[in-house]
Amino acid sequence: MNQPAKLGRGLDRCPNAPSTQEIIARDKHPAPFWVRSESYQFLGDEDIPTERYYDPEFAKREWERLWPRTWQFACREEHIPEVGDYYVYDIGRFSFIVTRVAEDEIKAFYNACLHRGTKLRASGTEGNTRLFKCPFHGWSWNLDGSLREVVCEWDFPHVRRESFALPEARVARRWGFVFINMDPDAPSFEEYVGEEALAHFDAWGMEQRYIHCHVAKVIPANWKLTMEAFMEAYHVLETHPQVAVSNADANSQYDIYGEHVNRFISCLGVVSPHHAGRFTEQDVLDQFTLGDSSFVADAERKLRPGETARQRMADLLREQFEKATGTSLAGVSDSELLDCFSYTLFPNTFLFAGISLPMVYRFRPLKDDHRKCLYEVFFLRPVPEGRPRPEPAPCQLLEPHQSFTEAQGMDPGFGAILDQDTENLRLEQEGIEASAKRGLTLGNYQEIRIRHFERAVDKYVGR
Ligand code: FES
Ligand SMILES: [Fe+2]
Repeated sequence: MNQPAKLGRGLDRCPNAPSTQEIIARDKHPAPFWVRSESYQFLGDEDIPTERYYDPEFAKREWERLWPRTWQFACREEHIPEVGDYYVYDIGRFSFIVTRVAEDEIKAFYNACLHRGTKLRASGTEGNTRLFKCPFHGWSWNLDGSLREVVCEWDFPHVRRESFALPEARVARRWGFVFINMDPDAPSFEEYVGEEALAHFDAWGMEQRYIHCHVAKVIPANWKLTMEAFMEAYHVLETHPQVAVSNADANSQYDIYGEHVNRFISCLGVVSPHHAGRFTEQDVLDQFTLGDSSFVADAERKLRPGETARQRMADLLREQFEKATGTSLAGVSDSELLDCFSYTLFPNTFLFAGISLPMVYRFRPLKDDHRKCLYEVFFLRPVPEGRPRPEPAPCQLLEPHQSFTEAQGMDPGFGAILDQDTENLRLEQEGIEASAKRGLTLGNYQEIRIRHFERAVDKYVGR
């Protein structure tokens, strides 16, 4: 039996428990290559200095060096399906009008008039238009960004049409997402994501999904601190006791891919190593909850002798999900049906594969307050076969006092988990600022995503 190491880099896995790969290898429907991939690397064990979570100087450097140079998820293609559709995406003081200028062309214009700077479209708006006309003096631009009209042009002999097209950010379109980057010298989106992670995302078919539910809430913590609350399963035992029994938390798998992508795989439907030997397979099944578990609400929940909770849940999910959504799951593995695959795409997006937790998270610092951020969760469901693509759900912005369980379309069990995740954050933000200790001490393995993420932050802010 392995003994935990006292010094050095540690074990890179939980002793005395099956690994994620061992759990998945026992499933009836085998997992695809990207689930079976393993890519952990030890990245050191130094503390992470904490001033990055509250120091306005650090935030300033992020605004100057990180946000204008990274690829960011601006909207989904389904937000702007028709020519002339636009969607305003803001990040801090920056604002872009993401517009479908032709059937297969999307541009992201800086959202500011070239006369005296007025925003051409208000933040948070979307719509359809043939031209962008400034509400102040009426200068206007065509859909493709070329200058259309300068009111009283005789007074602007110095305005040359060619140089007064709306400036653009770069656009990348992949998996139904529209990404933007303000830096003309940044690597291409493909290079930025890296070959291996691209192959993972390519395999998921996210372009065949639509936004079924979209919820947002302001969280009283720095955007990085908030993201980091979702990067490990280490907190499940203490923060989410109601799911800890049926969740492979301490034996989750952690991987890093290049500079901008990392992930964990957390298996569901198996007993946590913290609870090993104290619960039966039937207990595991009884305590099982999922993000989109409305499908299994009325399911038969008595196990047959020799049957595992995990296999039963996979079978039930497969059957009920196919019925509810009119899509076929032939060729989908049990792991994809059940498990939580959480990927960070630097700087501020989480992509989740899988069927039961088909989510996207996005985190943006508030423009004027780096100690707060806007957290958004999107649930993506498959577009039903042979039917038109449903409209994307509008964003529901919760008030700070509201629970995620109050959001329409949110599974209440999952809403409670998000409440638990976010309720810790105020205390963490305040504690970091109150502390005599100026660094975060991380677990070498289970918290590797946080270290990897902060390395990328450091790379951009130039430390
Ligand atoms: S500021 Fe836009 S037309 Fe004057
Ligand atoms: Fe959590």
